Amino acid sequence: MGNEGKITPWEVEGKVNYGEIVKEFGLKEINEEILEKIKSFTGDLHVLLRRKYFFAHRDLDVVLNEAKTNGFFLYTGRGPSGPMHIGHLIPFMFTKWLQDKFKVNVYIELTDDEKFLEPKRKLSLEETRKWAYENILDIIAVGFDENKTFIFQDTEYIRNMYPLAIKIAKKINFSTVKAVFGFTNETNIGLIFFPALEIVPTFFEDKICLIPAGIDQDPFWRLQRDVADALGKRKSAQIHSKFLPPLTGIEGKMSASKPETSIYLTDDEKTVREKIYKHAFSGGQPTIELHRKLGGNPDIDVSFQWLKTLFEEDDNKLKKIEEDYRSGRLLTGELKDILIEKLVKFLQEHQRRREEAKEKVKDFKYDGKLAKEMWEKVFE
Ligand code: TYM
Repeated sequence: MGNEGKITPWEVEGKVNYGEIVKEFGLKEINEEILEKIKSFTGDLHVLLRRKYFFAHRDLDVVLNEAKTNGFFLYTGRGPSGPMHIGHLIPFMFTKWLQDKFKVNVYIELTDDEKFLEPKRKLSLEETRKWAYENILDIIAVGFDENKTFIFQDTEYIRNMYPLAIKIAKKINFSTVKAVFGFTNETNIGLIFFPALEIVPTFFEDKICLIPAGIDQDPFWRLQRDVADALGKRKSAQIHSKFLPPLTGIEGKMSASKPETSIYLTDDEKTVREKIYKHAFSGGQPTIELHRKLGGNPDIDVSFQWLKTLFEEDDNKLKKIEEDYRSGRLLTGELKDILIEKLVKFLQEHQRRREEAKEKVKDFKYDGKLAKEMWEKVFE
């Protein structure tokens, strides 16, 4: 079966066939062998790895081979187009885990330029810069090491990035980005140049760069690998996650512009409860009698899928929930309550740390050890 859905960095539509993507994008699957290799360094496995939510990679084996000798660095990012939802946080949580385990530097790019340039968003530069600040609070709340993490936004850090950006841009022609990103003659030239800026951080250190991100960002990395060859620099490695499905159904990804499809990191208990009860797509039967008789389908039930992805880490508990739901012992409302409890707890803790983050922004952007180093460095 082909990939019925559509994936570019700016659009994810329809049902995504992840097995097909692995072949189409030339990726390797996250399999038991690579998980064992990771475990030999980390001791345990993050739930997102264990459940293969991070499902594919490129050159992760190379990164692990070099981890003890040359080392590596991590790079990820966020396009500040509005408030962050739970799905956006996933790559950051995983990146933090990798930082803790491998004690490596993390670079986090906020593409306030990209979100301004995307025509369909209709955001002013003032707005995307404001969202960059708001999003940085959520990112800091994840708990990165302030001495080993540099968070920057393009419109501020551009002076240091520009020499390298133009070297990258010179190696990319219009027909390539047209093919990779679907640009047309109507695309504004800011967006056409932008891919160079998402590639720049992959060269921040001479070591190999590992990028944890959602699969929609892959076109940038395919381009990066061509450019790296042309510039005599290192090709980056990637580890890709699936999408956390929107509340409204397991297809596609959550959209920040459709509030009912996502849980925002700033949502309070009442909002979470209302959204889950009202919008979380259910694999249950229309009546209690039928549900008890026929059981529910966890495979299409969004509450169950969210528990499976992230919110119920205990494999035995998850298995019991799945069995009870399939058999009809557990009702849809009860399943939703399990998720709501976990989500509310998670968000309350996140929001507490987000408040604390307001005091820490400077450490990550200008004053921390890595931040200071980076502001002195110009990438010629
Ligand atoms: P953005 O802001 O669209 O998304 C931020 C990160 O979240 C991932 N993501 C998701 N992951 C799981 N489930 C979802 N429903 C979901 N929605 C989004 C994205 O894949 C991404 O990893 N251009 C980028 C910003 C960027 C970047 C980077 C991202 C700059 N440099 C390096 C990753 C790595 C963007 O607009 O991301």
